[in-house]
Amino acid sequence: MENFDDKDKLIDQLSDQLAENFLTTLEILNRIVLMTEKFYDGSHSRFVAEKVERIGSDLGLKDESLTELKIAAQLHDLGKIGFSDTLLFKNSNEMDINEFKIYSKHPEIAYNILNVNPHFNEISKMVLFHHEKMDGTGFPYRLTSEKIHYGAKIISVVNIYHNAIFKRKTINQRNNQSIQNINAQTFLDNTKERFNNVMNFLYSKRGSQFETKVVEALLEIETAERRAMGEKTIIRLAVNQLEPGMRIAEDYFTSFGMLIAARGETLTSDSIKALFRFVETNELPMKILVME
Ligand SMILES: [Fe+2]
Repeated sequence: MENFDDKDKLIDQLSDQLAENFLTTLEILNRIVLMTEKFYDGSHSRFVAEKVERIGSDLGLKDESLTELKIAAQLHDLGKIGFSDTLLFKNSNEMDINEFKIYSKHPEIAYNILNVNPHFNEISKMVLFHHEKMDGTGFPYRLTSEKIHYGAKIISVVNIYHNAIFKRKTINQRNNQSIQNINAQTFLDNTKERFNNVMNFLYSKRGSQFETKVVEALLEIETAERRAMGEKTIIRLAVNQLEPGMRIAEDYFTSFGMLIAARGETLTSDSIKALFRFVETNELPMKILVME
């Protein structure tokens, strides 16, 4: 009897350790992704992950599928590791043929890193196909609709949306913007044209290049969010006054440049606890900007 108990305990311990190892692996991979995101101030993968999770859940995905989708979104550009700054800063339509050749390898590079672990089987496929388009005009394999992983179809739409709205146009703009405080109305005004353009583009290609349901879900979520943002006021609150459900109004970074809290992120009791720890280590100001 004792033996069985010991065995059970050992199995529990081992599975705890495995779970912890898995999370540590994810954190290491995340940190690599953040290094490739300097021109988005580290916000791209987090934005895409948060949005695909909402779309996935609106489309009925649950449990493991939803978690895998979110992880794939977080890691979709892992394959850009080692790319030059010049390449990282350019939009794909500004690249010359050689640059595009290098750039277009990033889904396969990420796939080769991730598929070493069998737990990343589905995740690595979503990452591999995130630049494919349903009509076969994507890359790297020019796959058509039925061959593209459903998760990749969701990531692809949100990826294009975030690039269009948030990618910095020039280094100067980037430097100026990163020190400005965010005002919700200014943000909405500044991005209105880009929002309309990218939504018109995605909408016009729904059913041909992009999954119709995904485009419609994104349009619904983002329209509601922008409307709500216009109605919200931005306030500066001490971290101990924060409440779950409030939204961060500005990007916050550690002294090492790690993103602690991203603009638009909804606070949970866990994330508030994490913010406390950053205040204690002086990585975060006592008061931060949130939307009510
Ligand atoms: Fe990509």
